[in-house]
Amino acid sequence: MSRSAHPAGPRHADVFTEGHYSAPAADLNVLDEKVWSRTVTRDADGALTVGGIAVARLAEEFGTPAYFLDESDFRARCRAWADAFGPDADVFYAGKAFLSRAVVRWLKEEGLNLDVCSGGELTTALDAGMPAERIAFHGNNKTVAEIERAVEAGVGRIVLDSFQEIVRVAHIAQRHGVRQRVQIRVTVGVEAHTHEFIATAHEDQKFGIALADGQAAEAVRRALALDGLELIGVHSHIGSQIFDMAGFEVSARRVVQLLAEIRDEHGVELPEIDLGGGLGIAYTSEDDPREPHEIAKALSDIVTRECESAKLRTPRISVEPGRAIVGPTAFTLYEVGTIKPLEGLRTYVSVDGGMSDNIRTALYDAEYSVALVSRTSDAEPMLVRVVGKHCESGDIVVKDAFLPADLAPGDLIAVPATGAYCRSMASNYNHALRPPVVAVRDGEARVIVRRETEEDLLRLDVG
Ligand code: LLP
Repeated sequence: MSRSAHPAGPRHADVFTEGHYSAPAADLNVLDEKVWSRTVTRDADGALTVGGIAVARLAEEFGTPAYFLDESDFRARCRAWADAFGPDADVFYAGKAFLSRAVVRWLKEEGLNLDVCSGGELTTALDAGMPAERIAFHGNNKTVAEIERAVEAGVGRIVLDSFQEIVRVAHIAQRHGVRQRVQIRVTVGVEAHTHEFIATAHEDQKFGIALADGQAAEAVRRALALDGLELIGVHSHIGSQIFDMAGFEVSARRVVQLLAEIRDEHGVELPEIDLGGGLGIAYTSEDDPREPHEIAKALSDIVTRECESAKLRTPRISVEPGRAIVGPTAFTLYEVGTIKPLEGLRTYVSVDGGMSDNIRTALYDAEYSVALVSRTSDAEPMLVRVVGKHCESGDIVVKDAFLPADLAPGDLIAVPATGAYCRSMASNYNHALRPPVVAVRDGEARVIVRRETEEDLLRLDVG
């Protein structure tokens, strides 16, 4: 994704070298539907509405900063993924993107399964009534206590991530007198990025067991030999915010090759493969994500083709989208505070949140969009950097964007596509109070995760 400096932008050399922004949209009042959730629109007064409710009312009732989650969009995306993959495949929502009990109930109602990767996520899932058999348990360092709970609860699958864990889970399952259904997570030597993938000869990361050097084959050998385990398949997750399907195709091909090797060596055809998550979403107008049905078709075509040529029965496919489901469904609403124009550079717009509610910009150099949402404006576009209120100059929410030049303290601005990995990675840095998540649907708004209070901070601080 290459972006260029806008010719009408500030004439300061550093901005051109460091800045990374596109030309302003022809009309800043127009909301690009690619980056906003489906029920977002502007009302007759020019204010943004979601689920039929104007942001001014939301800000008044719930305060800022706050995440507003478009429930009907979330449910529609769940259905789109489930429909695209059909009855012969399974969609596991990756809870790490954002998990709450309300979300678990929506997933359950819409027929999705759930991937959890910690005891906390498992507790949330079970507490909200997700049937254990619809839960997959992930993690590169599950504790013995976590494994015990997962086995006791009867989770549908544990995704084994190391040789030690193969033995650990087998022992625990045996102690409980059960055969635990498991998959083995393999690293297929494909590192996927937004627009490229790099095939690496050697794996250099903490997840999974490498296909290279026959390690994954050895893991399969050991798992098949243990009474406490029922090996149901192989798992691969190649990365995140991926648009190009080529990485998935290589991954699928290598996983199917492993299934063929397993059949040849053990006479066993493993019934499932999981191709992980990682599908990209639009954070800005320049991003072009694939639709679930295109993804489903590409994956099932490649798996079917590879299985035919290896004379294997086609395994049941599962996928684990997190961001692609929840990411586009929420925006963060902020109130504008200090506005600091830096002559010849850009204008710094400070909001009442920051890296404590969205660490992704600081951590991954992620790009976001932003819009003035409490009103429209005909003022000229001005180049801004939206920053937070934290004691750190890297506390940036939106690195480069355009907002109307008449922006004023008290205006509401919103950053779309913050549904994934913003609340779930939020922190209390500077003793910030983590914002609430408010679900909006059909003219009704309700808090699903409440705002933290200073009492919450003091309660944890036991003196
Ligand atoms: N399955 C597994 C095994 C994963 O490790 C992940 C994400 C997913 C599924 C879901 O990936 P998604 O579809 O959401 O991309 N904090 C980073 C993303 C870390 C993803 C970790 N694993 C971010 O904010 O971009």
